[in-house]
Amino acid sequence: MSAVSQDQLKRYRERAEAVLARVLPSAQTSPPDLHEAMRYATLGGGKRLRACLVYATGEALGASLEALDSAAAAVELIHAYSLVHDDLPCMDDDDMRRGRPSCHKAFGEATALLAGDALQTQAFAVLARAQAVSPHARIRMVEELAQASGSLGMAGGQALDLKAGPEATVEILEERHSRKTGALIHASVRLGALAANPEIPVALDDYGRALGLAFQIADDLLDVEGVALVVGKTVGADAAAGKATFASVLGVDEARRRARALHDNALASLRFLGDNGGLLATIAQYAVERDH
Ligand code: IPE
Ligand code: IPE
Ligand code: MG
Ligand code: MG
Ligand code: MG
Repeated sequence: MSAVSQDQLKRYRERAEAVLARVLPSAQTSPPDLHEAMRYATLGGGKRLRACLVYATGEALGASLEALDSAAAAVELIHAYSLVHDDLPCMDDDDMRRGRPSCHKAFGEATALLAGDALQTQAFAVLARAQAVSPHARIRMVEELAQASGSLGMAGGQALDLKAGPEATVEILEERHSRKTGALIHASVRLGALAANPEIPVALDDYGRALGLAFQIADDLLDVEGVALVVGKTVGADAAAGKATFASVLGVDEARRRARALHDNALASLRFLGDNGGLLATIAQYAVERDH
């Protein structure tokens, strides 16, 4: 990754974190344990890949950073909520997230459940209040994010994941991964685009879809090959849960090959942006080559 891209992504990350810190109620606001749990789950960790996608897509198409702030924060709030719920004992039962105890380990299950709920509703409140985009764009964004996170998107993918056993075809894996993880990543690209223009280029949809699936294949690989201290979560969790993943079904080499092929497709989709697509290309590379 070039130093220039790295600096730009760091600026996006820091900007998203500042917006998130601002839009979440303070830990002193009643009830303090709920707000503390929401801030704990959202702030202080995370790659902010989804926020970076909003900013990088929007800027590539000419949107201002101010017009992108609300969408960047909203996708990270939905993502944080999904992680809190994903880690609960009734789902993946994971004790570690972002290098520290998962939300329910730190605050208890009931508070974690409510923190997830409240993070989700906060995401839509933030989008609905977005002042730097037109009312029409705002409504479109709310609708996009709702679709991507609901039963036809992420929540539906999580429901498929709960039923996952040790056997699966590649088609079944693709559907589950594209929904549980791909939908929100794809939506991040679409939200960024909507801040610039009501028409979303088809090629950006291709990019978002390929990237979303590649990202979850990389996550599956990290569960097999990653180092817990670096990954910041328990490794080997998928195998322990007896869940088929790209790594278990295809083997790590073929899974990696697929992630790289999706990366190449994602890059090909960016051609229409010329030099403006550079940062999105960097994000795609990072998504498949990351170590955490
Ligand atoms: C983890 O997402 C959960 C998946 C959807 C694979 P990330 O790897 O983006 O998690 P953070 O935000 O960086 O912690
Ligand atoms: C998480 O998938 C997907 C969502 C949270 C929606 P995983 O269960 O594989 O994510 P990790 O590995 O716990 O981060
Ligand atoms: Mg899960
Ligand atoms: Mg999990
Ligand atoms: Mg995983």
